[in-house]
Amino acid sequence: MADTLTVIDNRTGQQYELPIKDGTIRAMDLRQIRTDAGDFGLMSYDPAFLNTASCRSRITYIDGDKGILQYRGYPIEQLAEHSTYLETAYLLVFGELPTAAQYAEWERTINAHTIPHENIKRFLDGFQHDAHPMGILLATMGAFSTYYPDAKQIFDQASRRLQTIRLIAKAPSVAAYAYRHAAGRPYIYPDASLGFTGNFLRMLFMGTEATYRPDPVLERALDVLFILHADHEQNCSTAAMRAIGSSQSDPFSAFAGAAAALSGPLHGGANEAVLRMLQEIGTVDRIPAFIEQVKGGADRLMGFGHRVYKSYDPRAKIIKKTAYEVFEVTGRNPLLDVALELERIALEDDYFVSRRLYPNVDFYSGLIYQAMGFPVDMFPVLFAIPRTAGWIAQWEEMLLDPEQKIARPRQVYAGAAPRDFVPRERRG
Ligand code: ACO
Repeated sequence: MADTLTVIDNRTGQQYELPIKDGTIRAMDLRQIRTDAGDFGLMSYDPAFLNTASCRSRITYIDGDKGILQYRGYPIEQLAEHSTYLETAYLLVFGELPTAAQYAEWERTINAHTIPHENIKRFLDGFQHDAHPMGILLATMGAFSTYYPDAKQIFDQASRRLQTIRLIAKAPSVAAYAYRHAAGRPYIYPDASLGFTGNFLRMLFMGTEATYRPDPVLERALDVLFILHADHEQNCSTAAMRAIGSSQSDPFSAFAGAAAALSGPLHGGANEAVLRMLQEIGTVDRIPAFIEQVKGGADRLMGFGHRVYKSYDPRAKIIKKTAYEVFEVTGRNPLLDVALELERIALEDDYFVSRRLYPNVDFYSGLIYQAMGFPVDMFPVLFAIPRTAGWIAQWEEMLLDPEQKIARPRQVYAGAAPRDFVPRERRG
């Protein structure tokens, strides 16, 4: 069996053999298919990249039909059970799990970079008290590019390493500052004696107590959520990170763009949208009317559906289990009943079944965040903090890939035919 695709162009009768590799043909191989010498050549048309592989990647594997997610070959279920977010971040960035010595050094280095430049506080003061923390995060992380001009040395491995550490270490600090800014509370400096996630909780929630110790169940739950959100191959924000990085801008600027992509309600903003939806539905008896609204096209069931997963999102399964552990400590979130009943109905309803719409990562995560005391607008920020590791790993892979160039799609022009300019006074 030959690994080729035979194409017959019925416009010319010409036949072409296109090589098939890894289940793909090269879009550039279509270019030879022309009607005559003046023809530009055939292109593929794929709005929203429904069926276009834009890169070869060794980082994350998803099988959307089987509900499989792996980072560097490790099943997400095993990482969620046995790993930590920092260890998973190391795995994503370096490709292998760290040894004990490598982990200790990684943790020490990340800890050493958690404190943002002191001027950042003044930068934050410029934001309104009710500024969305996602806007604060993306703007402030982007502003770091002006604090670290060395970040422009993107082809220097040592510089890339340093920016990687800075990004992963500073994201939770800036996120905590954004939260405290809105709350009108003083910023809390990081405490290296706590783990990555425990330290984050302290920077957020510490009050007047002399020492703050996070609840170990909540700390672990948040760490698991961070593991689950750390990467997800070529999603909208990662594609943005890669596309921006492909112009050779620095990684802080690319981060700002990726975080902007993440902030939308169809992507990382969905966890916030889910909670607002659950609050709006309010009680179980109002669910049938809401479902009818969704089926009529007036609404979307937020937290359901995925471009890649056409079965239960494996992350949603783990999050659902984590939710029950968290509620043991915080008390049951009353909106859980609304979520469970929505899921039950949706999984039986032909509208959702026929479209293969299942709960995604965002469906239950908001309930956990809310029970832990996070305001709703912090939810996308809690997504962005761990996704930093995935973005930076994907960014570096793109930079080192000899096949990559500046990302620049083609278009099918559908606008006006050439015409002559008409002076304003003569326009009808
Ligand atoms: N509620 C109701 N109907 C839906 C939903 C939903 N959540 N998602 C998809 N559909 C329907 C569409 O209306 C469409 O129906 P049609 O064929 O009758 O027109 C069909 O299912 C296919 O949907 P598309 O929009 O074509 O699917 P796409 O792959 O483009 O979108 C997306 C995926 C954006 C995730 C979508 O399912 C959605 O909007 N979900 C809700 C938002 C959400 O939860 N986003 C988080 C995704 S996970 C993440 O980013 C972390």
